[in-house]
Amino acid sequence: MKKIIFLLMFTALVYKAHAQEKQIQIETQSSALILKAGKNGLLYQTYLGAKLNGNSGYDALSKENTKSFVINDGNPLNNLRHLAYPTYGTDNLFESAIRVTHNDGNPSLELTYVSHRTEKIDDNTTETIIKLKDQVYPVEVTLHYKAFYNENIVEQWTEIVHHEKKPIMLYNYASSMLHFDADRYWLTQFHGDWAKEARMLETELTSGTKVIDSKLGVRTNMYQTPVFFLSLNAKAEENSGEIIAGTIAWSGNFKLAFELDNKNSLRISSGINPFASEYSLEPGKIFTTPSFIYTFSNKGKGQASRNLHKWAGKYGIKDGEKPRLTLLNNWETTFFNFDEKKLTDMFADTKTLGVDMFLLDDGWFGNKYPRSGDKSGLGDWQATKTKLPNGIGFLIQEAQKTGVKFGIWIEPEMVNPKSELYEKHPDWVLKLPNRPESYYRSQLVLDLSNPKVQDFVFKTVDDIMQTNSGVAFFKWDCNRMMTNAYSTYLKKQQSHLFIEYTKGLYKVLDRIKTKYPNLPMMLCAGGGGRTDYALLKYFTEFWASDNTDPYNRVFIQWGYSQFFPAFSICNHVTSWGNQSIKFKTDVAMMGKLGFDINVKELKANELKYCQDAVANYKRLSPVIWHGDMYRMVSPYDESRAVLMYVDDTKSKAVLFSYTLHPLYDPQYNLVRFQGLDPNKKYKVEEINLMSEAKKTLEESGESYTGDYLMNVGLRVSSSKVETSVVLEITQI
Ligand code: DGJ
Repeated sequence: MKKIIFLLMFTALVYKAHAQEKQIQIETQSSALILKAGKNGLLYQTYLGAKLNGNSGYDALSKENTKSFVINDGNPLNNLRHLAYPTYGTDNLFESAIRVTHNDGNPSLELTYVSHRTEKIDDNTTETIIKLKDQVYPVEVTLHYKAFYNENIVEQWTEIVHHEKKPIMLYNYASSMLHFDADRYWLTQFHGDWAKEARMLETELTSGTKVIDSKLGVRTNMYQTPVFFLSLNAKAEENSGEIIAGTIAWSGNFKLAFELDNKNSLRISSGINPFASEYSLEPGKIFTTPSFIYTFSNKGKGQASRNLHKWAGKYGIKDGEKPRLTLLNNWETTFFNFDEKKLTDMFADTKTLGVDMFLLDDGWFGNKYPRSGDKSGLGDWQATKTKLPNGIGFLIQEAQKTGVKFGIWIEPEMVNPKSELYEKHPDWVLKLPNRPESYYRSQLVLDLSNPKVQDFVFKTVDDIMQTNSGVAFFKWDCNRMMTNAYSTYLKKQQSHLFIEYTKGLYKVLDRIKTKYPNLPMMLCAGGGGRTDYALLKYFTEFWASDNTDPYNRVFIQWGYSQFFPAFSICNHVTSWGNQSIKFKTDVAMMGKLGFDINVKELKANELKYCQDAVANYKRLSPVIWHGDMYRMVSPYDESRAVLMYVDDTKSKAVLFSYTLHPLYDPQYNLVRFQGLDPNKKYKVEEINLMSEAKKTLEESGESYTGDYLMNVGLRVSSSKVETSVVLEITQI
């Protein structure tokens, strides 16, 4: 009892020491996040929105907020609203950012402000670091906010450390918690499954908690892409309205929770999914959460996407400012059925098309158990002698002789039980003791929490690179999720598995990036099962979906375009769907173009069309990859999709219009262009035409002011089912 009275007195004294309020401003060019340490020592979020002119605005605002939620009226619940990093165990009745149990079994935490500082990283970037600690237990939490000024992006993460005698148990460990007070809230989520990734769905949030999460362990975005839009007061619009676009940069299980409370306040928490993942934290060890990345836009989704694209190019994606390789892939044409002759013939096809690289897909490895289908060979990363007698080195030489680069597919985190790897190292596999092995695509997941397995996965890439100089590209696949997962290596700490696996994967990728800094790699997970900004630090691009039917693809690419730039979204022209080669290619050109077709089966005019389209793409890819993207007509609103890219100097633009499944004779309106300079004059020319085809845009070749194009517009869409129009817009 005495001890408790002492603690209470001590806590009161400490709170007194905090009597001074402190305001912390985290600003970008047009947004601001304002935090305030109250007189009671607690840290609150007082504002998130458009940047205000001068500090007096924030002072007034924080007084206003103080009235509503930082009041010391003796009601503890009022003191806890809008806490920057709410804890569990004392008075908080809502979602907590952190929940711990101490050594003595006490399940509470209360964090008070200790200090803060803002460091300038470079002319565009600052990092604000805020230290908080519990006044009774030696637990410290540090909040980090990195603000990217020009791109209007904030990256937020948290560090947790303690100095108790033995480990404490962490049950929740959010990256961030943000608060909103609007009249109404609309959430757009991006969900789906294999072959239907990134479907956009907008719903109004109602009282209670909506959770978007993954429990798949690996390939975690198969059902949910870890991104969202939150629109305040009204439904999300493309060019107006207040929007938060957020994403969690974590490749394991993630959780985004949206809790609308009794006072109509919304709190959004983000982070690793704590589901089945309580974490025992050793004294002195720092637990670092992944980053939550967000942008605030008061010009709708379009501006939010442009902010993210710009940031991704500069900071978010490996080599974001470097060019990408166009390619011919063999997966859809050959599947596992190929030999040296077939492949070397395809090198010639690669050259004929005019793309940069041939990408050899699944099926090239395994000797004791050759990879002749998906049931064997995974894990044995040596070329199959019966299929490729002269090895990969020979293929590279032949590709180079033909004048194309050579890329290769791997799936190094996985193993078929029918493999030499499995025979040698059955303990390297995730599988439950006392229960049968559980297969998905006839394979099992390797235990990347085990450093020996990490070495093996690193060596898979390293060996291919060392023995075959000239490998120019990797496609890194991942075709199953974790089920029946148990790590022999982690022994009694099974609840660390989801986290340690993901960290193990990052360790391997760090080693690869350090040793091969210029090696481009495509992130793939049985379609778009891995699409997050943590892995994209190591990968130059990602495979959006195995669904390459161009009609479906318009929706999938539209979804990903909200959060990821065009240069990172790989789109291939394949035999999926029976639409024209023009429609297929024009759809793929909206992102990073590739082909996965039998070039020999193309008719002469189709081949000519592809060659011209590749040449156009090469000329225009700097605009498509790094220009500003404007989405003008959404396929969710009309039976067509229209978007354009404009370069930074507003001197070059490309417009894509895709007609989907309209009713008979659709009366499409003129489409107003966006992003141009009203005072400049532009020539508008329709490109990507089949040799015999008439132009859809009657005015092709004519010139207009930017003003005209943006205020009046042109009739850019064809009225025919599954057809497309591509316009090149050039300043004259
Ligand atoms: C799934 C990928 O999404 C495909 O592109 C292909 O690489 C196969 N795996 C190969 O097994």
